[in-house]
Amino acid sequence: MNQPASYLVTLVLTVSALVAGCSREEDKPPAAEVVAVVEQVPTEPVAPDVEWRQHGFTAAEDRFSPLADINAGNVSKLGLAWYFDYPTSRGMEATPLVIDGVIYTTGSWSMVYANDALSGELLWFYDPQVPRDWAVHGCCDVVNRGVAYSGGNLYFGTFDGRLVSLDAADGSLNWEVRTTDPERPYTITGAPRIIKDKVIIGNGGAEFGVRGYVSAYNVNNGELAWRFYTVPGNPAEGFENEAMKRAAATWGGGEWWVVGGGGTVWDSMAYDPDLNLLYVGVGNGAPWNRQIRSPDGGDNLYVSSILALNPDDGSYVWHYQTTPGETWDYTATQHLILADLDIGGKQRQVIMQAPKNGFFYVLDRASGELLSATPYATVNWATHVDMETGRPVEVEGARYEKEATGLLLPGPYGAHNWHPMSYNPETGLVYIPAQDVPYVYETDTDFRHRPGYWNTGVDARPAALPDDPEVRATVEQSITGAVIAWDPVAATTRWRVEHVGPWNGGILSTAGDLVFQGNASGELVAYRADTGERLWSFDAQTGIIAPPVSYRIDGVQYLAVVAGAGGSLPLAGGADVLKTGPLVNRSRLLVFKLGGEAALPPAAEKVLVIDPPELTGSAEQVAAGFKVYSTYCVFCHGDGAISGGVTPDLRALTPEKHAMWDAIVLGGMHWQNGMVGFGGELNQEQADNIHHYVIERAHFAVDQAVEEAVDTGGAGEVAPGAAVE
Ligand code: HEC
Repeated sequence: MNQPASYLVTLVLTVSALVAGCSREEDKPPAAEVVAVVEQVPTEPVAPDVEWRQHGFTAAEDRFSPLADINAGNVSKLGLAWYFDYPTSRGMEATPLVIDGVIYTTGSWSMVYANDALSGELLWFYDPQVPRDWAVHGCCDVVNRGVAYSGGNLYFGTFDGRLVSLDAADGSLNWEVRTTDPERPYTITGAPRIIKDKVIIGNGGAEFGVRGYVSAYNVNNGELAWRFYTVPGNPAEGFENEAMKRAAATWGGGEWWVVGGGGTVWDSMAYDPDLNLLYVGVGNGAPWNRQIRSPDGGDNLYVSSILALNPDDGSYVWHYQTTPGETWDYTATQHLILADLDIGGKQRQVIMQAPKNGFFYVLDRASGELLSATPYATVNWATHVDMETGRPVEVEGARYEKEATGLLLPGPYGAHNWHPMSYNPETGLVYIPAQDVPYVYETDTDFRHRPGYWNTGVDARPAALPDDPEVRATVEQSITGAVIAWDPVAATTRWRVEHVGPWNGGILSTAGDLVFQGNASGELVAYRADTGERLWSFDAQTGIIAPPVSYRIDGVQYLAVVAGAGGSLPLAGGADVLKTGPLVNRSRLLVFKLGGEAALPPAAEKVLVIDPPELTGSAEQVAAGFKVYSTYCVFCHGDGAISGGVTPDLRALTPEKHAMWDAIVLGGMHWQNGMVGFGGELNQEQADNIHHYVIERAHFAVDQAVEEAVDTGGAGEVAPGAAVE
């Protein structure tokens, strides 16, 4: 689609005979000469196409677009060019790829879509038929973060652990391989990366009991080239390599291999072609609580580490562990960015990461040497990182070995989660979608390994928002979200823009002095890259978590983003933790250009009707229900049964649904949408108790609404059964 259009060929038709007017000559055919004239026509040169062909735009994953046609001076004229409605309504996290005029995205249940990048027309669609009941093995919704492309073919992972190759032209299947043991609750949500003739793919599932690894397959036939495990297996069975042997010496006492050990490579990778190094981010330990998986202590390599591997054979080159002996779900799977920075008067080849633990790391990417580690969000689990040892200096009691912590920051949602950052070499800033979401950690004293279900070793109840309105308000106040412009050389914040709450979108920065980010409140916003000034916004009618991309075709620059809330916090936290109020998830591909005039159809109002039946359960039954809810249900149905807009709000069940409680919860009546039956795991009494707890939460909400109405003088307007916003 790249047309060299700087000159035109003009055909000039000269008909000399016609000039003579009316004469006998008319009977003869006119003598026509055709002269081809090649002339320079002063048309606007069409700027070359710039597409988005790799997940992070480049192998360095900087997510910086060199395009500046849309810029700080004209972004106010940015408008919707077209939109495409996805047929699902679960979380959307994909980075679109734009290749040869086609935009490729992935959505819920690992479905793949190919749309014309100019018109939005759906060219083809591929559904890998993920078994819907596999949803119960996912911590964070049935999401997918995108495809990879090489030589006319697409590659993507499926939620149930397959790697699939499609022909990019028509979406037909090239090959498909299983990358995980189907007997284990592995999931894939991350995008593959391509290095030479290999496609690299990781997986997730640490909370459910798996052993993490990253694999490379041949792009042509799906043959396994190599696999690198990130944590050791059972030492009695020997070790795959020296790196595993060294790692095993840092674990001790427990049977971590039974619970898996964790260390999953579920998202970030980057590649340096000159050093020929593949970098992968490694996840948390499993279970979270180190006292359970490794009771004798130890660093538990290589959980929460950045690993450098040789991409040709998967051999270990170096590692840096951000959180030794990880016990808080502090993954280091967050976005990795490669850059060349002037540090202390020396040009350094660096790798940068803002992992969940709250410190921003700059490392030498050839050697793994630590160059700086500075808090970019509120951190109270450690005072600082010791630059001699490279280790965080932990605060007394942070490990909750004897008693629960207070509100610890960061919590398991991280000071930054998977939402990509962006590095803009022109401003020298890294833009981080950051947040403060505190958590109270307490050991689950009843822990037993529940294969295929949540296994954190942490009691989720103390972390629930408290009922006392004043305490609740204080906790809610400590929950924040922001875009932070971080100077990685000076290791300081240059500017910061506050959001309503946490869990906002990934980030794109551009040469147009712009930073684009969607947010949990349902907007897509453009900020000035150098100052953070808000320049433009669009009402997307839904939370946005995915990162925007930009491309130029036929001289026109576009901005594209996959809209649709979801992921872990809306599911496990819910609307009160998000602080946005209930938002409906609308899964859409939104594409913008200057002067775009398309409009979204009007959004339906979100009305939540909470009209619970009488509470018949005793306080003991409600408390017992809270415990079971916190072990099995909270991760999808939210804190206090408050929905974050993706799964149903259990406080708002209709009388019919209350009547079908057992059929749904034990029988799995709604398994086709990912709500499996828990009958094999829970008994009737437990199901009844959860039911009592949910009804109690509904009454609590109604009482709160009545109280609030009294506070504001509106008594009588809000009553049980009324719509609670
Ligand atoms: C893996 C995520 C997940 C887990 C874990 C989960 N649910 Fe669900 N649940 C869902 C989804 C998704 C739906 C919506 C299904 C649909 O639309 O058909 C749902 C629907 C329901 C419904 C029906 C709501 C309605 O209005 O139709 C009930 C009741 C319910 N869940 C209860 C529970 C209970 C109790 C637990 C814990 C024992 C639980 N769920 C655990 C995802 C989950």
